Amino acid sequence: MNVNTLILGAGAAGMMAAAHAGTEVLVVDHARAAGEKIRISGGGRCNFTNLHTDPARFLSRNPHFAKSALSRYTPRDFVALVDAHGIAHHEKTLGQLFCDGSAKQIVAMLRTEMDRAGARLWLQTEVGDIAHDGAAFRVDLVREGRPVTVTARHLILATGGKSIPKMGATDLSYRIAAQFGLPLVAPRPGLVPLTFTDDRFAALAGTALPTRASANGTAFAEATLFTHRGLSGPAILQASSYWTEGGTLTLDLAPGTALGDALVTAKRDAARKTLTTVLSYHLPTKLVQYLATHASDDWPSGWQTAPLATLPDAALRDLGAALHHWHLIPSGTEGYRTAEVTLGGIDTAGLNSRTMAAKHLPTLYAIGEAVDVTGWLGGYNFQWAWASGWAAGQAI
Ligand code: FDA
Repeated sequence: MNVNTLILGAGAAGMMAAAHAGTEVLVVDHARAAGEKIRISGGGRCNFTNLHTDPARFLSRNPHFAKSALSRYTPRDFVALVDAHGIAHHEKTLGQLFCDGSAKQIVAMLRTEMDRAGARLWLQTEVGDIAHDGAAFRVDLVREGRPVTVTARHLILATGGKSIPKMGATDLSYRIAAQFGLPLVAPRPGLVPLTFTDDRFAALAGTALPTRASANGTAFAEATLFTHRGLSGPAILQASSYWTEGGTLTLDLAPGTALGDALVTAKRDAARKTLTTVLSYHLPTKLVQYLATHASDDWPSGWQTAPLATLPDAALRDLGAALHHWHLIPSGTEGYRTAEVTLGGIDTAGLNSRTMAAKHLPTLYAIGEAVDVTGWLGGYNFQWAWASGWAAGQAI
């Protein structure tokens, strides 16, 4: 069978590309349904874009690569599409747009756009050997158990990253890219909970508080959640993409509050209260108890029994500073099992930023999460999938 364009992967990027790649388009996917990650995203409501999309909110070895596609296909363009399909939506927080109803509406919208463009979709299709004879790709497929060979002038790699293998994530795009001489940036889990070798936070599991989490110089002011295995919540997921093995995670446990000043003020106003009582006005009581038991190196001596009035101002200020800079060394992450995205992937050095095509083989394209462009939490990764898929589609 002959097509003009074969797209591997019917996820966010692949479906978007299919809607824009002209005629004779075939999309194949080994899953039973298209857009499964869209369906489960955003707690079933799909955080489909972010109004504050900016290349600075993406990680890549080449921070300039994403600029072209993101500036040509913007959140406004995607919102216009969503509006044209009558899908109601709202801004939740920080520019994050969600469906009012269900993420399934976004999948249905993309399927409709694909149908309008005349693109075909083969599900439950496995991808086998791939060759290029100088003019076209020959791709061996097994469709619902039957072998089929497809010849395609253009081949788009859109099978995403390695996150959530249980949902069918594979390294197929990386393998095909490597076969055709495209370099890779080592993939690693991103937007992922951080773990510790011991169960030090088990007693705090379920406790959440507003924080500022930073790793490798990038900070996020959002909530942190303590879990049985370590730390999660949006601030931690965001920081995890910047954190590297062996590195330090720093938590500000009371961003926006000058804790040292607050303790010194409390010393005057509530002189007979204890330190833990006063700290509990600013932090969850369970956390104060934990810190007092397990992380009290920076606490003034005698704090356990002494009333606040007897503790020196300098010691209270030092404790405040320590609580604004709690340094932790996670042992690792929860890995691809729970990671929302995969950092790294097909190195942008081998790709044209306007078309997403391989520089040395311009009929081979890579889009979406398979490429070494990873967004922050909050709709940025879908915006990259839409923009890169659109850019490849336009180029065909
Ligand atoms: P995507 O993973 O969507 O699609 C890849 C497709 O390729 C899949 O259909 C898969 O079955 C197929 N495939 C893989 N290997 C194959 C093989 N060997 N053969 C054939 N087919 C193969 N982002 C965001 O912006 N807002 C959000 O709300 C969320 N929420 C969210 C929740 C959860 C739980 C996860 C795991 C992820 C998110 N994300 C997100 C991230 C977002 O889902 C992700 O970045 C995009 O789906 C990436 O789009 P792609 O099309 O590149 O890959």
